[in-house]
Amino acid sequence: MINQKYIGMARKKKPEETVVFITGASSGFGKATAELLTEKGYRVYGTSRNPASGSWPYTMLKMDVTEPLSVIQAVAELMKKEDHMDVLINNAGFGIGSAIEETEWTLARKQLEVIFWGTLQVIRQVLPVMRDQRDGLIINVSSIAGRMGLPYQGFYSSAKFALEGITEALSMEVKPFGIKLALVEPGDMHTEFTSRREWSVVDDPSSPYLEQLNKTRKIIDKNELNGGNPVKVARKIYGIIRKKHPGFRVVVGKPDEKIAVWLKGILPFRWFERILSSFYGIK
Ligand SMILES: NC(=O)c1ccc[n+]([C@@H]2O[C@H](COP(=O)([O-])OP(=O)(O)OC[C@H]3O[C@@H](n4cnc5c(N)ncnc54)[C@H](OP(=O)(O)O)[C@@H]3O)[C@@H](O)[C@H]2O)c1
Repeated sequence: MINQKYIGMARKKKPEETVVFITGASSGFGKATAELLTEKGYRVYGTSRNPASGSWPYTMLKMDVTEPLSVIQAVAELMKKEDHMDVLINNAGFGIGSAIEETEWTLARKQLEVIFWGTLQVIRQVLPVMRDQRDGLIINVSSIAGRMGLPYQGFYSSAKFALEGITEALSMEVKPFGIKLALVEPGDMHTEFTSRREWSVVDDPSSPYLEQLNKTRKIIDKNELNGGNPVKVARKIYGIIRKKHPGFRVVVGKPDEKIAVWLKGILPFRWFERILSSFYGIK
């Protein structure tokens, strides 16, 4: 039951009255954001598929975004403890790497299952609460890969493109209910993401993609391992939460990554393709 006193006033509240729900809070961006917001006094609820795997300075709920029942249960558990929910941060995710033609079908589907369908599952569970409150903020963690199709990460890019598209559409549908959406688009960052990436590689030296895939894979891994600190993303998310009128897309990354996003928007694709291919060692 929503507490009437909170209707229509989510971001006028003090941090200690502001309830934040963060998916995938056991590592990387989710953990850094949950820690920062807890430190700032927010009422933080994180999720993990395995909450017993660590100890957390915030409440950790068990949730797998690909299991509808676990999403329903996690949101119900949060709403048993709180009488409102102000901010949802959809961060849970993982990546796959592969040549599109050779990607194992089940892995390709799993990529979209987690990033696209999983995120939507959580959003649809939370929207009734935010609509009743007539206020709420939903931040979807996308990626620069959601702005440009990355070679050998085609399904990852597709999942983030899909997430970006539905975030734009939903933003207009829920605006009349006082609910805002925003997209955070990080560049390469050093988190568990790199070691957890699932590669679909055909174990056959005659694969026409193998040599290029291995070459590009080294570049992808190296860039992420030398990437930024996830705290940078946490600080951006904190900034969005504090703003009365947050921007819709926030890119977090190095200057060259920001320039790439800008160039993608203005250059003819053939020109941009040449730049991106050479970045990934593709002749
Ligand atoms: N690192 C980068 O360079 C980068 C760049 C751009 C965007 N991103 C995006 O940022 C988000 C966070 O990534 P990260 O870099 O922080 O990676 P990470 O360190 O691997 O953290 C991923 C988080 O997602 C959770 N998760 C994974 N699959 C899940 C599932 N099926 N259900 C529920 N939770 C799940 C994990 O929790 P449990 O394993 O505990 O369940 C973990 O807390 C992802 O959406 C990713 O696509 C990352």
